[in-house]
Amino acid sequence: MQNLKLMRAIIFRDYGDPQEVMEFVEDFEIPTPNKNEVLVKVECASVNAADRYIVRANYFIIRMVFGLFRPSKKKRILGMDIAGTIKGIGKNVKSFQIGDAVVADIRKSFGGGYAEYVIVNAKHLVKKPQEVSFEQACTVPISGQAAMMGMILCDIKRGDKVLVNGASGGVGSFGIQIAKAQGAYVAAICSTKKIEAVKSWGADEVVDYKKKDSIKALIGKEFDAVFDTASFECPGRYKQILNKDGKYVLVGGDFYNMLRLKFLGRFSRGSQKFMAVTQKVTVTTNIKTVLKMIADKKITPAIQKVIPLQDVPGAIHSLEQRTVIGKIVVNLNKEVSDHS
Ligand SMILES: NC(=O)c1ccc[n+]([C@@H]2O[C@H](COP(=O)([O-])OP(=O)(O)OC[C@H]3O[C@@H](n4cnc5c(N)ncnc54)[C@H](OP(=O)(O)O)[C@@H]3O)[C@@H](O)[C@H]2O)c1
Repeated sequence: MQNLKLMRAIIFRDYGDPQEVMEFVEDFEIPTPNKNEVLVKVECASVNAADRYIVRANYFIIRMVFGLFRPSKKKRILGMDIAGTIKGIGKNVKSFQIGDAVVADIRKSFGGGYAEYVIVNAKHLVKKPQEVSFEQACTVPISGQAAMMGMILCDIKRGDKVLVNGASGGVGSFGIQIAKAQGAYVAAICSTKKIEAVKSWGADEVVDYKKKDSIKALIGKEFDAVFDTASFECPGRYKQILNKDGKYVLVGGDFYNMLRLKFLGRFSRGSQKFMAVTQKVTVTTNIKTVLKMIADKKITPAIQKVIPLQDVPGAIHSLEQRTVIGKIVVNLNKEVSDHS
């Protein structure tokens, strides 16, 4: 029988290739919540682009946060968003009870979702609506939330024309659907193999950037907003396809483009606005909004596959290979043998 104080987890002991430095263990100590925290049994977690950057420590800032030479002992479990069930509760926590089904963004505590149990500060918790499954819910705190925040900044109104770049990814799949639910016309940019999926999420028009220069192909369209999750182009290039007071919102992609926009702040070109995504609405508010949209069947998380915990390193590798379409979900109750 399993020792009740120990749990299964995927840990990373070093930086590098996820398939080499990440390891499945069964003897990780179950943490104990302090007075403002809860212990959550993780039912599902989602795989995010952030995991691949952290495991590789591609940028020096990652080493400053996670450990200079190797990940610090307290930050060895990744998994930045979870859906699960409360199993233990700190004495100051009044708004949640043992047994509640909850969802959380756990980036502020450096992850921990790739394990059977995780500690979450109660202020980061959102109750999971019954109509939303654990597998769906875990895709919301990071990808769904970031898409919602970006779309709020894009300030979309019914009938607006929105361009989603990086459309086939975790954030893009939510971005397309949220923009469509808000009544926008959506054009999307992605690679050849992912076009059918992107169309199935509701894009009205898809440009294959492998076949043509996507920005050139869209000249003359005059978008009200560009929602960019794959900013590997200079953001200024989008000026030519934005209308005169259009907005460009950068959610991800090239780290230095992101920093440039963040530090230079929102800058204008005429009355066009260029900005990196910033949190104008609380994360938990956005999570609730996206969960409600799923519960109301206005959007559906695009889950490419559901994997057991042991397959996390391979899933991060497939993000690096860019073979993922939408989201990969880790279901902690899934056995290795029921691969589908
Ligand atoms: N600020 C925030 O709060 C926040 C939250 C979530 C994510 N992000 C950031 O947003 C970005 C997208 O996240 P995601 O979860 O949607 O990632 P993802 O699932 O890996 O999707 C990214 C998409 O971008 C496309 N892409 C184009 N050029 C690429 C390149 N050189 N390298 C990798 N992908 C490329 C890929 O599609 P094709 O194969 O079709 O090209 C891929 O599907 C990441 O940079 C992530 O760190 C930020």
